[in-house]
Amino acid sequence: MKIKDAVLVALVASNIAMDLNAQVKPQPIPQIVKKDGRFALFVDGAPYLMLGAQVHNSSTWPATLSQVWPAMAFLNVNTVEAPIYWEQFEPKQGQFDYSVVDLLLAQARQHHIRLVILWFGTWKNGSQHYMPEWMKLDPERYSHVIDKNGDLADSPSPFATASLEADKTAFTVFMRHLKAADPQHTVIMIQVENEAGTWGSLRDYSPPAQKLFEAPVPPEVLSAMGVKSGSPAPIWQEAFGPEAEVNFHAWAVAKYVGQVATAGKAAYPLPMYVNAALRDPLKPGAPGSYESGGPTDNVLPIWKVAAPAIDILAPDIYQSNPVAYLKELELYHRDDNALFIPETGGAANARFFFSALGLGAIGFSPFGMDYTHGHDTAPGSRQQQEFDAYAMNYRLIGPMQREIARLNLEGKLKAVAEEQGKPTQVLPFGDWNAAVSYGASREGQGAGNAEPTGRALVAQLKDNQFLVTGFFCRIDFRPAGTAEQRKSGNIVDGTGQTPSAQIDGKWQHRQFLKVEEGTFENGVFKFQRIWNGDETDWGLNFGAEPVVLRVSLATY
Ligand code: DGJ
Repeated sequence: MKIKDAVLVALVASNIAMDLNAQVKPQPIPQIVKKDGRFALFVDGAPYLMLGAQVHNSSTWPATLSQVWPAMAFLNVNTVEAPIYWEQFEPKQGQFDYSVVDLLLAQARQHHIRLVILWFGTWKNGSQHYMPEWMKLDPERYSHVIDKNGDLADSPSPFATASLEADKTAFTVFMRHLKAADPQHTVIMIQVENEAGTWGSLRDYSPPAQKLFEAPVPPEVLSAMGVKSGSPAPIWQEAFGPEAEVNFHAWAVAKYVGQVATAGKAAYPLPMYVNAALRDPLKPGAPGSYESGGPTDNVLPIWKVAAPAIDILAPDIYQSNPVAYLKELELYHRDDNALFIPETGGAANARFFFSALGLGAIGFSPFGMDYTHGHDTAPGSRQQQEFDAYAMNYRLIGPMQREIARLNLEGKLKAVAEEQGKPTQVLPFGDWNAAVSYGASREGQGAGNAEPTGRALVAQLKDNQFLVTGFFCRIDFRPAGTAEQRKSGNIVDGTGQTPSAQIDGKWQHRQFLKVEEGTFENGVFKFQRIWNGDETDWGLNFGAEPVVLRVSLATY
């Protein structure tokens, strides 16, 4: 080989090595970041908005994964939520099968999609159905909840030490494998168990559980629930009356799940969350009318103190009542809890993705979004309508998900969905109010859409510049008056084509300096055209197409 050729070969080889290094360049581990009371999920060191969808329960198998990816492509997701099954992972005690998780990782990477893995361990919807056979066949050792009548419930006992140890071991092995197999952090978060808790029995009535129920409530639980201790400290019944049994079960289940999470995090500390089967947020029924033991809204403080390794308590929202849906979002949007919706469904609920963003959500994910179950892709079919409704959200937000997550963390973003009987909404941004109206005619304020499908998002980029987008709505801006006027509520709004306000006795009229339509590419707004004339004379109208505007305002 000539010297020149040898140098070339060496150069090519070193470039290949550099490329490989670039491919495995270590990125920071995903984490939940809190700043000024707001949250973001950081992925590769920057805020990331999880545009997710969850597969059906039995879809993470080599035979069915091929029916997952085309659905996810249609939906424009950036993250798939997929279960890994304990029964598959540890078919014989101490023997672990990594084949499914490895295949899932490989296929997700091929499709450039991130993963949230759901650890279907001790609990699945309150039952022990995903425990391996060797556990199912030994209910003496891996004990069930004993109900009030002394019968075995279809639910694992949170006091079963052998089950806890087995789950901790399996989950730790799983997380250790993930750490080694996933240096590029394809997996960004882990769900520990699935809707942990118990249906049909309020708690475990086994003798050891009964003994604990009659013992003093741990002081941290009393303090979390705002109940005064005494001397002697109260037992559960004294402290909580009719709520004693659900509170006790929540504490027991949270302790167990918290220990599983702690063990897994010691191997590989990805963010971890627990999902909840909810109770009616508007008219909560008595204990027994909802799953006992999971992080329902009434026991969130107990879960927070009993399971500190769990980063997020997350609501599975299947409400068809929009008022109840919005209430659930509020209940899980707390100073100690990032809002994250790991399961939801129904075409009509797709608009609440915007409401969730308005409350700073770090992610959103409809359930059962794959092509198993004989999915009917015919236009207008119920299933396809649901797919369409969620896909349009992600098609719009996908190209700017990083910006949206960052603006939300910085407190600069507001977003809303249409509510029945509320054809207008106002989003205040200091000197400017963004006025949203639904079903607006050319000169009218709006009477609401025939079906409430409207959604709007506005984010402040500079003092007088906004990112504006939405579906089936009109958005305009109005001077908001001086800080004093806003405080006193003494603002005279002008009506008519140009929104105006009387500020210090003088009329100030909104003026569009420039309304730019564009798209985001790699975090940069790429200008496409200026809207003016008919496109701006009656406010900025959004239909079914994904349209993003950068709006610069002034007054005259
Ligand atoms: C909620 C559960 O968490 C999911 O795994 C699934 O069973 C759905 N319910 C079914 O609708």
